[in-house]
Amino acid sequence: MKARILSVVGARPNYMKVAPLHRAFARYADRVEHLIVHTGQHYDAEMSDVFFADLEMPQPAVFLGVGSGTHAQQTARIMLAFEPVCMQLRPQLVIVVGDVNSTIACALTAVKMGIPVAHVEAGLRSFDRTMPEEINRVATDAIADYFFVTEPSGVENLRREGALPERIFLVGNTMIDSLLFALPKAKASRLRERLGLRPREYVVVTLHRPSNVDNPEQLRQLLQILGELAEWREVVFPAHPRTRQAIERFGLQRLVEPLRLLPPLSYVEFIALVLEADFVLTDSGGIQEETTYLGIPCLTLRTTTERPITCQMGTNQLVPPQPEALRRALAALRNGERKRGQVPPLWDGHAAERIAQIVVQHCLRLSVE
Ligand code: UD1
Repeated sequence: MKARILSVVGARPNYMKVAPLHRAFARYADRVEHLIVHTGQHYDAEMSDVFFADLEMPQPAVFLGVGSGTHAQQTARIMLAFEPVCMQLRPQLVIVVGDVNSTIACALTAVKMGIPVAHVEAGLRSFDRTMPEEINRVATDAIADYFFVTEPSGVENLRREGALPERIFLVGNTMIDSLLFALPKAKASRLRERLGLRPREYVVVTLHRPSNVDNPEQLRQLLQILGELAEWREVVFPAHPRTRQAIERFGLQRLVEPLRLLPPLSYVEFIALVLEADFVLTDSGGIQEETTYLGIPCLTLRTTTERPITCQMGTNQLVPPQPEALRRALAALRNGERKRGQVPPLWDGHAAERIAQIVVQHCLRLSVE
C-alpha cells in the first residue's frame, strides 16, 4: 500500500509553497500518494483558482469550503471540516505550509489524531504577537513533528524553542521554486504593455495587513503618501479584497484616484509586473522573498520581519508604517539610492525536491534509490 500524504492549502500565499511539493512527490508516485486539501479560506476565483492554473497544480482532492469569518470561527470551521477528512483518508503525514489560519487549524487537528505533521516554512518569527500570523507560526511549531526551514534564523528560533535538532531541516524556499517555475511565463506576459507602463517607471504596491488597512487613519495616511508617490512614478496597486473593502468602508475612494487600482492579479501577472518595476512597496511576507530573489528593491511597511535574511542579504528594507519614515524612504529611492542584494543560500529552485526526499526517507522511512 502507498503511504498517503495530505498537503493543506487555504489562502493565496499557500499555493506557491505546495505546487512544487506536488511535483516533487510525483517522483515517488510508486510509494507515495500526495493529495492536496483546500480549506477554502480564500475562495474568490482571483484569490484561488487562477493560482492553480498558473502553477499547473491539479484540482484539490478535497475542498472544505469554509470561507471567511472571525479568526475563531474560521479556525474552528477548518478543524471541524478537516477532522472527518483525516478519519476517512488516514494519512501517514499531514504537511502544512506558511502561517495562515488553515496552517494552525489543520496542524492541531492532525496531531490530536496522532498523525505526524510537517511544517514547511517553519521557524520564522517576527516576535510581534499582535500579528495573527505570528501566533499561527509559534503555535504550529510548538506541535509539529518535522520542520522544513527557509533561512538560518528559522533554525535558531526552533532550537531556542526546544525543537529536536534532528527534526529541523534547512532546505531552502519552495516559494522560490515556484518563482523559477513561473518566470518564463512571467517574462512572456504582455501585461505591462497592456497597462501602458514603461519599465522601471512604475512601482508595485500591495497592502493587506490588518495593522495597515483596518485602521481608517492609518490607511488614509498611507494612501495619501501613495498619491504623492504617483507624482513621479505610476503606482500600480493590485488590491486585496480586504483592502478594497476597507477603502470603501472608510470612504477613501478619492485618495485612490491617482493610483492604478487593479483587482488581485494572477501569480504570473503579478511576477511579470514586479520584474520590471522600479521598486515594490508592500506589507506582505512572501513578496519580501520574491523581490530579494529578483534583485528588485523592496520597502516593507512593517516594523518587524519574520524573514530577516531578506534585509541582511537581500534587497528588502523595513520602513515603519509612519508617514515621515515612509516619506524619507521614498525620497531616498527618488535620489537613486538602491539597495543591492544577494540570493540567500539554497534558494535555488530545488527546495521541494529536498523536502520530498527527506519526507520519504526520514518521515515515512521508505527507501530512496
Ligand atoms: C490571509 C492570511 C494572511 C495572508 C493573506 C494573503 C490569516 C490569519 N491571514 O489574510 O497571513 O497574508 O491571507 O492573502 O490566515 N476575502 C474575499 N475573498 C477571498 C478571501 C477573503 O473577499 O477569497 C475577504 C473577506 O472579506 C475576508 C477578508 O478578505 O473577511 C480577509 O480574509 P482572511 O482569509 O480572513 O484573511 P486575509 O486578510 O486574506
